[in-house]
Amino acid sequence: MSPEVSKTIMSPRENILVVDDKPDNLRLLSNILIAEGYKVRKVLNGRLALDAAKLDPPDLILLDIMMPDPDGYQVCQSLKANSTTQEIPIIFLSALNTVADKVKAFTMGGVDYITKPFQQEEVLARVKTHLQIRQLNVSLHEQNLRLAEEVQHRQQVEAELTKTLQELRETQAQMVMKEKLASLGALMAGIAHELRNPLNFVNNYAEGSIELLDELAADLQTHLQTHLQTHPDSVESAALGEFQDLLDEIRGNAQAIHQHGKRAEQVIANMMQHVRADHSGLQSFELNGLVQEAISLSYHNCRTQFSNLEVAVQVDYDATIPPIQGSSGDLIRAFINLLDNAFYALSQQKLQAGESFVPRLQISTQNCGNHVLITVRDNGIGVPSDIQAKIFDPFFTTKANDGTGLGLSISYDVIVGQHGGALVMHSEPGDFTEFAITLPI
Ligand SMILES: Nc1ncnc2c1ncn2[C@@H]1O[C@H](COP(=O)(O)OP(=O)(O)OP(=O)(O)O)[C@@H](O)[C@H]1O
Ligand SMILES: [Mg+2]
Repeated sequence: MSPEVSKTIMSPRENILVVDDKPDNLRLLSNILIAEGYKVRKVLNGRLALDAAKLDPPDLILLDIMMPDPDGYQVCQSLKANSTTQEIPIIFLSALNTVADKVKAFTMGGVDYITKPFQQEEVLARVKTHLQIRQLNVSLHEQNLRLAEEVQHRQQVEAELTKTLQELRETQAQMVMKEKLASLGALMAGIAHELRNPLNFVNNYAEGSIELLDELAADLQTHLQTHLQTHPDSVESAALGEFQDLLDEIRGNAQAIHQHGKRAEQVIANMMQHVRADHSGLQSFELNGLVQEAISLSYHNCRTQFSNLEVAVQVDYDATIPPIQGSSGDLIRAFINLLDNAFYALSQQKLQAGESFVPRLQISTQNCGNHVLITVRDNGIGVPSDIQAKIFDPFFTTKANDGTGLGLSISYDVIVGQHGGALVMHSEPGDFTEFAITLPI
């Protein structure tokens, strides 16, 4: 128990309201209580009792039952029905002494019952007990209020902490991603540099070999024709035939080497892109024009790959976007990567869903005050939920032989790392994929 609580309980200054229609009883009771140091107010009927209690709620009421209208029970009922007085403990006073009377007094809301004639010690003991209980109730109530406030406060603090933690996690994830890409960049620079020359060599020789083999095959064909005309059944004719088959096989191999070499060249070109974060190349450019250029380039590229893919391209440009500061060369590369992916997803959906499917690409730009928002949305195959977390990882691809898996990590690097923007993806597999890009103005 706190020191203030025990002090109030010991203090004899409590305020007691005594209600009895017999002046002698009233005097007797109040003398007993005043002698103990209590503050006593005396009233002679129920109506005055109700007024006095509402005006200045006492700590305890001693209430006679047998009074002319209203009697003690009625007074008790009114007090219990009023929010300012309902918590005041009431001790009934009466000469009625049957069990039924006492039960009725308690069911009305009385806390105790004293029978007349009064015994001084009994009155004082009961009064003291109920004042103590009352005091304890009051402090319990106050403590509950304080606890409820504290709980609420803690919940607020907890909510704020959770939010801060979430923000920290996001920042951390972004930093890890940036760090990963930065160290990867250095590694890539080394590898790309080492591989570029030998790969050029391989590709050039493969191309040269194919040309030579073509010439050789043509010569052989002429020889074979003349030889067959002059010596149709000779052993040499058969040997020349086998020789040509062999030549075709070698040519096929050279072509495969060339094809794979070209793909490796593309990987290296992308890796170089990662490394080339040229902050020196900052300029001011018009965003809508840049986006439009990216769409034209990417759609052209798409048409060379999927010649019969017709895409309904919808654009919605916000004309109020001011000039943007940044590296337009890197940004256009980032947009093209996103658009290439979208066209690819549309081509795949067309394969799966058939002729009735209408491939759609929606691009919009929006001026949001301190940043611009660019969205790229396609109704292609979508990104399966189990790989959504991986698509920005370098070298992650689902395009077995068609992709390097660097497109999105380059775009992320350019948009987030280089330009301080954001790049997020939202997709419903089988329905749509949307990329939202923000760039600071
Ligand atoms: N619009 C999209 N719709 C469906 N899947 C997508 C979309 N964009 C990206 N993806 C998924 O994310 C993966 C990674 O994309 P990313 O651009 O990094 O590499 P890639 O396209 O596979 O290869 P590259 O870009 O080198 O050609 C893709 O393989 C694909 O599974
Ligand atoms: Mg891609």
